[in-house]
Amino acid sequence: MPQPSLARVHEAEVVSNVRVAEGLWRLVVKSPVLAAKLSPGQFMSVAVPGEPLQVSRAPLSYVTCDFDAGTVETVYTVVGPGTEALSRMEPGSTTTILGPGGHGWKLDAFTKRCLLVAGGVGVTPIASAAQALGLQGLAYDVVVGARTGNALWGVDRFLTYGADHVVVVTDDGTAGAKGLTTDALEAALPEERYDLVLVCGPEPMMRKCAELCAEYEVACQVSMERMMTCGFGACATCVVPTVNGAVGACMGGPVMNAAEVVW
Ligand SMILES: Cc1cc2nc3c(=O)[nH]c(=O)nc-3n(C[C@H](O)[C@H](O)[C@H](O)COP(=O)(O)OP(=O)(O)OC[C@H]3O[C@@H](n4cnc5c(N)ncnc54)[C@H](O)[C@@H]3O)c2cc1C
Ligand code: FES
Repeated sequence: MPQPSLARVHEAEVVSNVRVAEGLWRLVVKSPVLAAKLSPGQFMSVAVPGEPLQVSRAPLSYVTCDFDAGTVETVYTVVGPGTEALSRMEPGSTTTILGPGGHGWKLDAFTKRCLLVAGGVGVTPIASAAQALGLQGLAYDVVVGARTGNALWGVDRFLTYGADHVVVVTDDGTAGAKGLTTDALEAALPEERYDLVLVCGPEPMMRKCAELCAEYEVACQVSMERMMTCGFGACATCVVPTVNGAVGACMGGPVMNAAEVVW
């Protein structure tokens, strides 16, 4: 298996940064070398503007890289000062990005049919998997969930990238079916159509998905979200307990085998 590229600091210029749904922003940056190195499920650590020496970085997954334009697209949610500052970055402003970070999705060419499950802003790394599966001509369906219809993003993308079916669920039933992504997964697994499930979302959701996949003996990968202070293996803030001991999500993840995580 090819080893991921070593992370480097790259210059980046904001191309666009707009709100695309309730609580979600879409950021496109021009950073040609980074765009050529990222692979689906990996992350990048974006320096937060306004910080002294820009030492504070927000780890973000990405949706797509456009090699010709040299751009990287991400979708993020504002939760605190760092992402708030990011949301105020105007086109033309510059920052630096450390990346590519960690290991991404392991997409097996022999997979018959894959199910992608995205909860909330977990849609970002799931969209990168969808595009990669589509480009490889592998069959897949998607479950995408949000609190409410206005907070949904990505349904059109999944269809553009070649998903056969996109199931939408919302907590309040304002779009798609009323319910949780885990309800949709629980309904889908007994059909025995899937041999790989990829999940990103809140940790309780990923834990439940891992349990369901174990019950139906379907391989499952999860993208683990942890606080990440350094982003390159030096600080141990990002550890995930696994059956093989504590693993740093920034280097040993963020994508992990769900069956190996000690939830
Ligand atoms: C590998 C990876 C990929 C990510 N990809 C995305 C993405 O594509 N889009 C996106 O919106 N967010 C993503 N995140 C989360 C994002 O990095 C954090 O939301 C962001 O760094 C918060 O910074 P802040 O300064 O705005 O908030 P802070 O003030 O640092 O935090 C605000 C609140 O969020 C909590 N928090 C912050 N970071 C994390 C974290 N990593 N895990 C759990 N809780 C956290 C804090 O405890 C606090 O309660 C990712 C995180 C990781 C580790
Ligand atoms: S973020 Fe520092 S070791 Fe992972």
